Amino acid sequence: MPQTNASNEYGYRSFSVGGFSFERDEYFAHIKWPGGSHTMPMDAFLRALMRDISWSFFYGIVNFDQVFGTTNHYGNVDVFAGLYNAGYRAQNKHHVENFKTEEVRAVFEAMLDDWTNEGFDPFAAPEETGTPFGPKRGGNRAAITRKRLVANRMTGMKGDIPLRTDAAGNPVNRQFADVSQDEPEVHAEPGFENEVHAFNFFGYVSRSDVTWNPSVCSAVKYSQVCATTEEFILPIIHGNDRVEWFVQLSDEIHWDIQDRESGAPRARVVMKPGDVAAMPADIRHQGYSPKRSMLLVWENNDATLPDLYAKKKLKPNPVDF
Ligand SMILES: [Fe+2]
Repeated sequence: MPQTNASNEYGYRSFSVGGFSFERDEYFAHIKWPGGSHTMPMDAFLRALMRDISWSFFYGIVNFDQVFGTTNHYGNVDVFAGLYNAGYRAQNKHHVENFKTEEVRAVFEAMLDDWTNEGFDPFAAPEETGTPFGPKRGGNRAAITRKRLVANRMTGMKGDIPLRTDAAGNPVNRQFADVSQDEPEVHAEPGFENEVHAFNFFGYVSRSDVTWNPSVCSAVKYSQVCATTEEFILPIIHGNDRVEWFVQLSDEIHWDIQDRESGAPRARVVMKPGDVAAMPADIRHQGYSPKRSMLLVWENNDATLPDLYAKKKLKPNPVDF
């Protein structure tokens, strides 16, 4: 689908993929599709769009809000409106189109690039960035094209990426000033100095300059352990397609848990340091972190899981108490 290069009166381009079209003005994203339309505030829209792109459409469903979002089929992606909204479904007003992943990605990346103004970082906490609103004002390509550092062995070991917990690295976040920056002592046997290593993981994570952006810190077969720092609101409502384990490492996150298909409320979960939760495979959830917190997320990357859950060959909850 060709995109228009002409800018509107606010300086922004319009975009489309299939029957969906996207326009922005000073405050809002306006989304239209055959038979309907939807409006989202620009701060929430850009924060959700940033995650959808950088997580490569993530596991399962990325709801930008209660109406618009994407479902990942790993190679192709559904773009939907009202598909997981009981009211839209009851009136048969939902709309969904399927695209090759790369087609949606190209449109979403161009839209994020054009609609992100100078001084606004969609990954940053609201207190730590500028405003996304107003007429078009420059851009922020450095913030929206961050690339994860990929370690070949344990990070910080000789010959691999540096740990950056020194003056050359990110500063400790203002809300993690109480996190110890001591490094462990390592006493390797002679000959093993290049094989044994340890570092202060809390100190490392306290320097993260992004929020709600899991970084894989260990990948063993299907096991992916991701550390992340959270502040303010998870910018998407995530619909799981597998069980997801949370370990609250510091501070507090309040979760709204809803039925994945309808959005009907199911639970409120307040997680405090040391709490562990298994988020079921049939829910959607959104978290609120009043102060910057550390969360460890454990995902099972086995590609056969979504189908096993969909066909009810696996129970949505991993543990019965
Ligand atoms: Fe999730």
